[in-house]
Amino acid sequence: SRTITILGLESSCDDTAAAVVRHRPGHDPEILSSVVAGQTELHSAYGGVVPEIAARAHTEKLDLCVEEALEAAGLRLRDLDAIAVTAGPGLIGGVLAGVMTAKGLAVATGLPLVGVNHLAGHALTPRLTDGTSYPYLMLLVSGGHCQFLIAHGPDRFTRLGGTIDDAPGEAFDKTARLLGLPQPGGPSVETEARAGDPKRFRLPRPLLDRPGCDMSFSGLKTALLRERDKLVTAQGGITVKDRADLCAGFQAAVADVLAEKARRAIAEYLALSPTEPVIAVAGGVAANSAIRAALETVSAETGVRFIAPPLALCTDNAAMIAWAGIEKFRSGDTDDMTLAARPRWPL
Ligand code: KG4
Ligand code: ZN
Repeated sequence: SRTITILGLESSCDDTAAAVVRHRPGHDPEILSSVVAGQTELHSAYGGVVPEIAARAHTEKLDLCVEEALEAAGLRLRDLDAIAVTAGPGLIGGVLAGVMTAKGLAVATGLPLVGVNHLAGHALTPRLTDGTSYPYLMLLVSGGHCQFLIAHGPDRFTRLGGTIDDAPGEAFDKTARLLGLPQPGGPSVETEARAGDPKRFRLPRPLLDRPGCDMSFSGLKTALLRERDKLVTAQGGITVKDRADLCAGFQAAVADVLAEKARRAIAEYLALSPTEPVIAVAGGVAANSAIRAALETVSAETGVRFIAPPLALCTDNAAMIAWAGIEKFRSGDTDDMTLAARPRWPL
């Protein structure tokens, strides 16, 4: 087994990214470069990601991101062993833009292609950052995803449960909108919540009465809306204090649900008798310090080590795609020009 260097491309949502990762057997993987070009300002006027705008921006930015990633790594295309690209799930226009760019590079160089599942990219990140060994437990929490997975191998995951409606990030974003706070909602709600009383508004903890790891977050937003409207009726509007308390109450409810479901996921995971038990997080919501604290408590209770990769590797990036590409490449799992973009691609 030899040193592998892979260029990864990511364009499945609203970040265009390219990265180069190298792995020498027996050494920690090295992120030689990681370039992320966001699109927040392009979509901010619309209150959400507009697929057509995203696809056009990816098409415009991908080549430049690739050039920058190679230059920052000090490499040429011919120094690479393969091109890895997110082939789904995600917005079809963006995924297609990435897959076409990767195919162009593969044709030009003769390098193999590796199609990577975006969720696998997130799920394999603890191996890139911490060398975590299989099997480990993973909580993916982003604007589009929410699930507990056990990772058994680069292409083998068991899903223990997930959201049946909104993802937590989506719920944070909607909550921010309801309260007139800027997008993305997660950071603005967290900032407001810092000054708030999490106990003043007792919001529901959905699905805790049901066994298993499934979750629901859309009801929280409805409950919050009801509390807000009660205040508006009673006092003609909401004060800064009310808003802080609503944010704190909402955040505490999300953290409680994730922590309790994490306890259950850990119980299922420990039944596999892992030698070095780990629960890791990925996704933008993993940035939330109340949620991290709740998961750290569960980790301390259960003796399962908690791993939170650096934030830049929790949110969408291409280093995770390059790394997942390295793992797949090592196991002999490569693609050819028939690689298809898959808007839906469950793990
Ligand atoms: O992983 P990510 O960058 O993109 C995908 O959704 O794939 O996650 C973005 C989501 C947004 O919904 C954002 O509001 C949320 O992560 N987020 C947070 C925080 N920072 C970002 N949610 C809660 N607290 C935060 N500090
Ligand atoms: Zn993602």
